[in-house]
Amino acid sequence: MRMSAKMEAEPGSYNQPKGAEENIEEDTNNKALLQNYSRYAVEFVSGDGAYLYDTEGQKYFDFLSGIAVTGFGHNHPEIKKAVEDQINKLWHISNLFESSGQEALAEKLAEKSGLDNVFFCNSGTEANEAAIKFARKWGKGKRSTIITATNGFHGRTYGSMSATGQFKVWDGFQPLTPGFQYVPFGDLQALESSYNDNVVAIMVEPIQGESGILVPPDGYLKGLREFCDKHNMLLIFDEVQTGMGRTGKFFAHQYEEVKPDIITIAKGIANGIPLGATICKKEIGKLMTPGSHGSTFGGNPIAVAAANKVVELLDDKTLSYIGSYGKLIRDAVVSLNLEEIKEVRGKGLLIGIELKEGISAKKIALKLLENKVVIGTSGEKVLRILPPFIITEKEVLNFVMSLEKVLTSN
Ligand SMILES: Cc1ncc(COP(=O)(O)O)c(C=O)c1O
Repeated sequence: MRMSAKMEAEPGSYNQPKGAEENIEEDTNNKALLQNYSRYAVEFVSGDGAYLYDTEGQKYFDFLSGIAVTGFGHNHPEIKKAVEDQINKLWHISNLFESSGQEALAEKLAEKSGLDNVFFCNSGTEANEAAIKFARKWGKGKRSTIITATNGFHGRTYGSMSATGQFKVWDGFQPLTPGFQYVPFGDLQALESSYNDNVVAIMVEPIQGESGILVPPDGYLKGLREFCDKHNMLLIFDEVQTGMGRTGKFFAHQYEEVKPDIITIAKGIANGIPLGATICKKEIGKLMTPGSHGSTFGGNPIAVAAANKVVELLDDKTLSYIGSYGKLIRDAVVSLNLEEIKEVRGKGLLIGIELKEGISAKKIALKLLENKVVIGTSGEKVLRILPPFIITEKEVLNFVMSLEKVLTSN
């Protein structure tokens, strides 16, 4: 129960709340934690590899990886050591001083992407905010519109939310930040008709992660590159979910061998320690002079220590393992031949299983949780399967058996 406004006012305070004499309505929600997530009624207290343990010590397969974050599973010895070593030395110092950890990570990300400069922040949303600012800076105040895709997802802050082409994400928060135009995902023809002189960039996810693991037609990303070149526009790939090896390539756009001008990453970069990055080519990077952008926590030494290890672990062998295990899972689910499943799609270990009309993905995810398998959902009909990169055939088999059991007893 909340106190009355009268009780909340400090004695002798000049700031008596308005209507201080009236009682504020009784609030039956007495949780201190904001109720902006719908959470499953289970709490995990420890993790080891591809497994999680709840408060009762019950063991679960983790086929969600904290929504594409803990790619190397829980308690990975080498990542843990890198983090522990850093914790024992220094936690935070700000970006006013040199950082050899950031330099090393930036060099690795530049090499992996073929781009030149890296800005570090703390999340996917922030990486996209930076990308939007970089693009507008590059537009020199003459061009500012950014084209994004309907049903895309770029984050929850005003810039990244406005870039997100989904009404349900904006609802109640309008007005949006101006300067975004939305086109259907995967449709190159729709782009031509949406072009005007004010457009400076296109920003899309190589695979839409939050709207059902939607893979665009082959050639789409290449087509975007050609379109951007034709109109002297920047191409931005939001690889927050698809990047850092999740699809079996370091970046998902590398399946099409296109080179964007800006890439944003976060989620899997530091295996669970908050970190985001915006990677760009030097023609853009040089415009971001001291004072133009920044972050107190961005590139924190602990997160950077974890990320340097993650990048080292994400070698060609691991990427090919991710690719082949993704195929193994997709093929195994398809071979169940269940009428409850409409389509299985994705790349690497970013997998969507679309269910037949009338079957709720949330309900199936809950039943799997009761069977000690943790997965996610993407939209109302799609199961989102994001296992860690360290799974074995045994775990795949267990997952497929649990899925069959739950779907057929639905
Ligand atoms: C493609 C994409 N972009 C941006 C974001 C936002 O990232 P964050 O939640 O780290 O701010 C997400 C999160 O799901 C995402 O999937």
